Order: sequence, then structure tokens, then C-alpha cells
Amino acid sequence: MMVVNNIRKMRDISARARGEGGRVVFVPTMGSLHEGHLSLLKRGADFGGLLVMSIFVNPLQFGPGEDYLTYPRDIDRDTEMAEDAGADVVFIPNEAEIYPEGFQTSVDVPFLGRNLCGHFRPHHFGGVTTVLLKLFNIVEPHVAIFGEKDYQQIVIVRRMVSDLNLDIEIDTVPVVRERDGLAMSSRNGYLKPDERMAAGAIYKALLAGKSCFDSGSRDASIIIGEVEDVLSVQPMVSIQYVKICDLDTLEDVDTIEDGALLAVAAMVGRTRLIDNCKLYTTPEIDSCTDGSAGTERAMVW
Ligand code: PAJ
Repeated sequence: MMVVNNIRKMRDISARARGEGGRVVFVPTMGSLHEGHLSLLKRGADFGGLLVMSIFVNPLQFGPGEDYLTYPRDIDRDTEMAEDAGADVVFIPNEAEIYPEGFQTSVDVPFLGRNLCGHFRPHHFGGVTTVLLKLFNIVEPHVAIFGEKDYQQIVIVRRMVSDLNLDIEIDTVPVVRERDGLAMSSRNGYLKPDERMAAGAIYKALLAGKSCFDSGSRDASIIIGEVEDVLSVQPMVSIQYVKICDLDTLEDVDTIEDGALLAVAAMVGRTRLIDNCKLYTTPEIDSCTDGSAGTERAMVW
């Protein structure tokens, strides 16, 4: 596996793969890798071709007072994990090359970035789309893979790709979870033991909402109430939002028709966690499977 730190070299490697008729498959991350990230690499390997993972903690997507400075960084561990998971290239650009003096352009997908996390992190998605467009231009992938844990991010990236005529297929993988259902996240490491226990309530709350939906309720406020009831039992969990949204527009829905997204953001202590699940009326696509990420610990919706 190659570890690449500069843009020129990354471009050359990618151009060579393309020139030889190969596919370039891209998994962008901020590192501190876990099974969720590895499931993206695993999916990427199914496409064949050059499998590139980027690791870049993007300052542009962190707001004032957020955890940019303390975000976990462990490049040695990450490169080893990426190599074991089959990456061909790990691209770790440095901040000065990505954002040189005078950098000022931004890419914004304003309406899709308004609801859900965008409401609480107003500059976050602008930072995500700006860095992703840059990474896409550098890596020039045929396919880029994203996790459904960040569902809003996927919808926004798809919009950007379509609006800007980027010739990139966006592929997705389901949320990978810990044994108690907590969605894996680089931020879970911030949780103290009692907070970690309490964080399991987020998944339980989603399950309660899903079971309310499965038993016939289509009224968003009733399902949201069920989710909030489960979360409010945990004093360490403070709800930021519980929402039911349209899967494409991300606008709130009052009555669920074919399908919707149930999404939660909560603070557990000082750690902000998000999770979601899809509510579908078609039974075969809302099943729960486990172990499909290939490890004992991991569980996937
Ligand atoms: P990061 O949080 O490192 O996540 C990288 C990718 O891994 C994203 O597509 C995310 O959805 C996916 N992922 C994280 N946890 C997951 C889980 N438990 N199950 C499945 N997939 C999971 O998302 C970002 O970085 C950044 O915003 C980035 C796209 C790299 C732009 O800076």
C-alpha cells in the first residue's frame, strides 16, 4: 500500500490507473478508523480497481468551539488498518496544501444543508462539500463511497455531484454498530464509561420509533414522541433533535407515506452523536442483519 502526502503524486497515481483503463474507487475519511470506515473499504474492494482512502481532518467543517483540535488522530494505526482492509493508497494531504494562503472558494448546497444537523452546525456541510470537491478533483474517482450513518451528507454530496456534473458514482453502505447498537463513530472514544452506557439509548430509541412505525403508525409526531420517551429516560442524553424527514428533500414530514428518515442527534455529556434509520413500508428493505461487516463486534442495519 502506498502512503501519499502530496497532491501531485496522488494525481499521478490516479491518472496512471485511469490511463491503464482501471477504475479509481475512493473512500474519504477523517481517520481514527473503525469498522464503519472499514466497511466502506470493503465495499470499495468489490468494485475492483485502485482503492484510495483519504485521511484528512478538515478544519472547514468544524464550527467554533467544536472538536477540531481534539479530534482523534492516529496515522500509524489508521494506515495499518487501511492496509489490512485492502486499500491500495492512503492519501494524507497536509492542511497547508489543501488550504494554501489566500484560499477562499466554497461550495454550498444550501437547502439540503438547512435541516437536521445543518440547523445546529450552520457551516458544517459547506465545509464538507468544499473539501470533497477538492478531493474529488485530486483523486478523480469513478466511484466514491459514503456511510449511511451520515445520511444528510450523502444526500448533499449526491446533489453536488449532480448539480456540478461530476462524473462520479456515489455508493453507500449501511450503518455499522457496536454490540449494543451504538453507531460506530470516531467520537465514541470521547465517552466516559457511564456516558458510553447511556449512549446505547440512542439505538434503543430508534428501534422504538421503528417498531411504532412497523405496527402501523404513520403520524410523525407520534413516532417522534416514542423516540423522545426512550431518550428522556437517560439523564446523560440530551436531545438535539429527533426528526422524521423526506428521504430525498430532507424536509420534515407530518405523515409518512412510502418511506422516511428517522434521525436523531443528541449530546451525551459533551459528545455530540448522530444516528438514523429508514422507515419503509416495503418489508424486505427494512430488515436488520448482523455481522455483515465481517467482524464479531460489528452489526449493520
Ligand atoms: P468521517 O466521519 O471520518 O467518516 C468517513 C465516512 O465513514 C463517511 O462516509 C461516514 O458516513 C462513514 N462512517 C462513519 N461511521 C460509520 C458507521 N458507523 N457506519 C458506516 N459508515 C460510517 O464523514 C466524514 O468523515 C467527513 O465529513 C468527510 C466525508 C471525510 C469529509 O471531510
